[in-house]
Amino acid sequence: MKTSFMEMFGMSCPIAQAPMGRCAPPEMAAAVANAGGLGMMGVSWDSLETIEDHFRVLSTLTNKDIVFNFCLEMDQDARIQLALDHGVKTISLFWGDATPHVNRIKSAGAKVISSVGSVEDAKRDLDAGVDALCVQGFEAGGHVYSTTGALSLIPAVADLAGDVPLIAAGGFVDGRGLAAALTLGAGAVWMGTRFLASKESFAHPDYVKAILEAGHDCTVSTELFDLTWPDAPHRVIRNSTFDAWEAQGGQTKGADRPGHGEVVAYRGDEPMYRYDESGPNAGMTGNVEALALYAGQSVGMIHDVKGCAEIVDDVVSEAEALLGRSLRS
Ligand SMILES: Cc1cc2nc3c(=O)[nH]c(=O)nc-3n(C[C@H](O)[C@H](O)[C@H](O)COP(=O)(O)O)c2cc1C
Repeated sequence: MKTSFMEMFGMSCPIAQAPMGRCAPPEMAAAVANAGGLGMMGVSWDSLETIEDHFRVLSTLTNKDIVFNFCLEMDQDARIQLALDHGVKTISLFWGDATPHVNRIKSAGAKVISSVGSVEDAKRDLDAGVDALCVQGFEAGGHVYSTTGALSLIPAVADLAGDVPLIAAGGFVDGRGLAAALTLGAGAVWMGTRFLASKESFAHPDYVKAILEAGHDCTVSTELFDLTWPDAPHRVIRNSTFDAWEAQGGQTKGADRPGHGEVVAYRGDEPMYRYDESGPNAGMTGNVEALALYAGQSVGMIHDVKGCAEIVDDVVSEAEALLGRSLRS
């Protein structure tokens, strides 16, 4: 069975891999796309040269369409143009009003998926003419602007969206979640944290270990990791940086926080400061545990590292068994 979301984006199963900056390299996007899902590249902070490199690598790994994702907190005009020039067929927009971008992207022949965290955001982006909505619940890992859980938000947006297809994000890690999302009105799930614990992940091994060891109550929603992106709520696994700040009263901001200005790790020669918003990538050295360990609330259900294709297959098979119907085409 094909949902309208799968139909629109040429998927043969209802799973998308969330864009996750450096943690989700071309190898991950290609593996998920080759398995019939939707592969995505989050390139919001990449130079144009790096994005060109991603296109080169992707062309050796897959002939499937990969979605490119842009965070609207900063100017993305040149990056979006580069993606359109490369013939990218779907642009995903996150953290902001999609309205100023929709006409330009659609007149270049591409589709727009915008991420929303409330019914008001959804109304705004539907009015702007987006092709599909990613409904991100409060459970989600990474930057999250919803204050509502996916269980309430997905049906509320579904009631509003009419024929515009939805994809559900936030806390989806297995077939139970996929079955629930489809029942609530989404046409697929968009999974982030689950794919961080995959063979194709570029998350630092200590970060992956923290994901595998985290329990259900280990994440917090905070604005703590904010050096280059202030006032932006995000969900992370509690770590030594959060604990020290909380022990000091959990009220301090900026330079008054414990260890502010301290270098805790390195990416090559580049220092990574405590409270930086970058998460730990493979190859970083130092105390990477002190950096932002982004993860969703369902992190406690992730117990193993598997290949992306196996993750896709397992999640779909579990949901098919629960729903008693095929979810593949
Ligand atoms: C490490 C990490 C980085 C992320 N980076 C982005 C990003 O660049 N753009 C984006 O739209 N969402 C980003 N997200 C949010 C995801 O798109 C998605 O909403 C979230 O992972 C879903 O929740 P889950 O982690 O429980 O599956 C990120 C999430 C994580 C965990």
